[in-house]
Amino acid sequence: MRFDLITLFPGFFAGPLSESILKRAREAGLIEVALHNLRDWGEGRRQVVDDTPFGGGDGMVLKPEPLAAAIRAVRVLAPSSKVALLTPQGRPFNQELAREWSRLPGLILVCGHYAGVDERAAERFAELEVSIGDYVLSGGEIAALAVVDAVARQVPGVLGNEASPADDSFPARLEYPQYTRPPEFEGMPVPEVLLSGHHERIRRWRKKESLRRTLRRRPDLIVRYPLDAEERELLAELEAEAAVGSRG
Ligand code: 6GU
Repeated sequence: MRFDLITLFPGFFAGPLSESILKRAREAGLIEVALHNLRDWGEGRRQVVDDTPFGGGDGMVLKPEPLAAAIRAVRVLAPSSKVALLTPQGRPFNQELAREWSRLPGLILVCGHYAGVDERAAERFAELEVSIGDYVLSGGEIAALAVVDAVARQVPGVLGNEASPADDSFPARLEYPQYTRPPEFEGMPVPEVLLSGHHERIRRWRKKESLRRTLRRRPDLIVRYPLDAEERELLAELEAEAAVGSRG
């Protein structure tokens, strides 16, 4: 799969693309990442890419012409890629989109900046606008990296062990806590059940801890993905423990 990134800061990407999974995926030819400096399509001797907003207001807006020229040029290199704009105004990027996009031949990711992108360029070129969460980043670069990483992991072969992308689907529940050696760290022991070798007890403990964590940290997931029969039992146990705890 091919990724084309249109950015004012191509230097931003060198490190992250040269480490770990993305590095190996590129070396293996499973993904290809090309960086394009928007300034190369800037206007005039100073290669201007932005201007003040009509109607007034803070910050600068990316002009439509350099964006249009950049996207059109990149589309020649990657004619069947989908164009997505990274902006805090986008729809939330999630695992489902990551999975969907991993089946495309390519993605052209346009990194927004400053006060934003001229709406006409967004309207004409962006098939989708996405955000990676409810906070404001200085630009779309970090968001683009998050998208490249999440999408690349779904490309067959990128996860070395060939773990199927289905295993990596967004969890309806948060993961259970993990422990490794030593069995005791600064007075804190590993839960005894995990040392027991009792696979069924371990499985049930993990499911219970996933539920505990999800209830506390992401109750929205419980609403979206209702409890199964075993979880209803586990919830009763958690409630019983809480009742004992509050008496204690
Ligand atoms: Cl895609 N861009 C920026 N600038 N900030 C963000 C974002 C994107 N997603 C979350 N915050």
